[in-house]
Amino acid sequence: MTEPVMPTYARLPVAFERGAGAWLWDAQDKRYFDAISGVAVCSLGHAHPAVARAISEQARTLVHTSNLYRIDLQEQLAAELCRLSGLDNAFFCNSGAEANEAALKIARRYGHSRSIAAPAVIVMDGSFHGRTLATLSATGNPKVQDGFEPLVGGFVRVPYGDAAAVSAVDDPNVVAILVEPVQGEGGVRVPSSDYLPALRRLCDERGWLLMLDEVQTGLGRTGAWFGFRHHDILPDVMTLAKALGNGVPIGACLARGAASEMLTAGKHASTFGGNPLACRAALTVLETLREEHLIERAAELGQRLLTDLREKLAGHPRVTDIRGKGLMIGIELDAPCADLVAKGLEQGFLINVTADRTLRLLPPFILSDDETLYLRDGIARLVADYTAGR
Ligand SMILES: Cc1ncc(COP(=O)(O)O)c(C=O)c1O
Repeated sequence: MTEPVMPTYARLPVAFERGAGAWLWDAQDKRYFDAISGVAVCSLGHAHPAVARAISEQARTLVHTSNLYRIDLQEQLAAELCRLSGLDNAFFCNSGAEANEAALKIARRYGHSRSIAAPAVIVMDGSFHGRTLATLSATGNPKVQDGFEPLVGGFVRVPYGDAAAVSAVDDPNVVAILVEPVQGEGGVRVPSSDYLPALRRLCDERGWLLMLDEVQTGLGRTGAWFGFRHHDILPDVMTLAKALGNGVPIGACLARGAASEMLTAGKHASTFGGNPLACRAALTVLETLREEHLIERAAELGQRLLTDLREKLAGHPRVTDIRGKGLMIGIELDAPCADLVAKGLEQGFLINVTADRTLRLLPPFILSDDETLYLRDGIARLVADYTAGR
């Protein structure tokens, strides 16, 4: 019999009934430590009281009116994101893929404004930008693209982390670079600290837009408000989603300078984008991150976890690398390890494996010191047990 839900996910055999902070409970009341935060979404943990209060109040006041009218909360959220990022304006949508679609449309319009009839965007090997046709075409993973040909054209692909490869692109149609400050789905790849500044310089020299996909890295995940904040640069375009609503779907595409003038009336739209409910959730997330000093906490906990995990797993023959930035941590093994996820589940840890052999941790920022130690010890034990005798 056909299952009513399309089988687009190979789901684990567990469903959760409730959550609080870093913890989730299943129907048997078994408790799990959520070390993946709904894939970098619930940075404030589950059922955060401030977010719960804000969305229930907003649901009783006004959920949706459409973008045919001014939306006060949307204007407030745009102003706050611009203030935090240094960019000029924002378009709101409902997901990361949609935010990247907006960025790609900005790049196309920017190209046409400069009389380039077939504008192209430089994208990276190993990248992930979403599952819509344009964003899967931009994505640097053949598995994501397989079976969806013909792909959307206008992408030039280069290796990640290699500014010289970008500099070597000699194509008059190029108008922009789309890049993640740290590759998430690509295996928690942290480029060298001169990479983004070098891309910024190239964009300045050649009149290209620097478009940062901060869907995963944004809003504190790397220990700064945005991944680019670790450097003294500004992007022309930045996309956000995931953590922006702590689980309430919302995405944003921010732009600056010429890029901020490309999406004029009639050029882009979203029925739900930036509705009062989603914006109220996002404003509360930003306020909570600031008031509870959670970005600083993410930086501190991330550094502590990275150091401790390196120490605990030092000399382990099957662990080839432990890397990360903030609370975005990858433990790379010497062989594919997708089944580690089920082992983690058995032991009460929700983790993820990306790029075949990298165990990925994306825990919430609200962890107590004791919870951080619990996570560290549990993950070190899990990896040691899993690799023993292999
Ligand atoms: C860097 C990046 N961009 C885009 C996306 C797509 O976001 P969404 O699933 O909300 O469309 C993801 C999702 O994992 C991502 O990590």
